[in-house]
Amino acid sequence: MSIIEPTFTIGNVAIHGDLILSPMVGYSDVPYRLICRRMGAAMSYTSSILDEATLYGSNHTNQLLRFLPEERPMAIQLLSNNADTLVEAAQRVMELEPDLIDLNLGCPARHVTRRGRGSALLLDPPLIGQMVSRLVQAVPVPVTAKIRLGWDEQTRNHLEVARILEDSGIAAIAVHGRTREQGYGGQADWQAIAEVREAVRVPVLANGDVRAPEDIAAIKRATGCQGVLIGRGAVGNPWIFARRDAASVSHEQRLAMIRHHLEMMLAYYGEQNGLVLFRKHLIKYVQGWPDAALLRRRLMTSETPDALLWTLSSWVARPLANAS
Ligand SMILES: Cc1cc2nc3c(=O)[nH]c(=O)nc-3n(C[C@H](O)[C@H](O)[C@H](O)COP(=O)(O)O)c2cc1C
Repeated sequence: MSIIEPTFTIGNVAIHGDLILSPMVGYSDVPYRLICRRMGAAMSYTSSILDEATLYGSNHTNQLLRFLPEERPMAIQLLSNNADTLVEAAQRVMELEPDLIDLNLGCPARHVTRRGRGSALLLDPPLIGQMVSRLVQAVPVPVTAKIRLGWDEQTRNHLEVARILEDSGIAAIAVHGRTREQGYGGQADWQAIAEVREAVRVPVLANGDVRAPEDIAAIKRATGCQGVLIGRGAVGNPWIFARRDAASVSHEQRLAMIRHHLEMMLAYYGEQNGLVLFRKHLIKYVQGWPDAALLRRRLMTSETPDALLWTLSSWVARPLANAS
């Protein structure tokens, strides 16, 4: 047990720190979660995993479910539309001993909502209550949920959903301050997140549009939340978890992080897949570099890790060579 006072607790799980990498399919995997944890992120979430998929146990699903002890506290996030399969899936993944189970009530993707999962559940608050009550009874760890403000502007129901979640035994609620209809556009409504925080007693984690250290202070001030989830603003920018401005990171420091992240990807996914999966991170790491379009083309066509690193090193050395 830690003797240092936690920043807040989720049920009986102590959270040390206020910044958390938001779950993101295709990004929040073991290598990147580890990097963010080491930079200062306080806990980890898997990306969303279909309840049924956990029951089939494909290699892909098993890889999504994997985590390392260093990542704890660890939340496994499930997508579901049915209390029975949700409970079955949660009990199955308990074999991995996660610290938390999180229910995704925010995913806007059509292939998810078409089957009544993710943000589509916001249209059926009683079903949310039923699913969460069953889940809370079924697993020995705290259950959390991640919501949006509603399906669309006309049906915003974040307060109703938050109260139902709390009455059903939820231990924390993460709120992305947009409706499903908004997707990732427009501005997140931090005031609405504040309303949720005031409406419930469990911890509320604020989420949406945190891209720089000053946004962290601003969202905490606007919402009163103790915890903040950072998604897109953390891609190619793990320094945000150290509250460091991306502009203060030199090209050399960035290159060292790229090299480190790439090595972790290669070790985790193997040479071929690791390189391919790393490219979308890489694009974000080099955003804003001189001649970015040309650099991107070169990087996308680099077929080996060595070729990619050579391209990057020579790009970093270029302005120095010009200056001398
Ligand atoms: C590529 C991508 C994948 C995402 N995958 C998930 C997911 O698996 N589970 C989830 O709850 N939210 C997911 N989200 C939503 C983010 O966690 C976050 O709520 C949203 O991007 C708003 O936060 P931000 O403005 O900090 O990015 C995803 C977002 C993006 C951009």
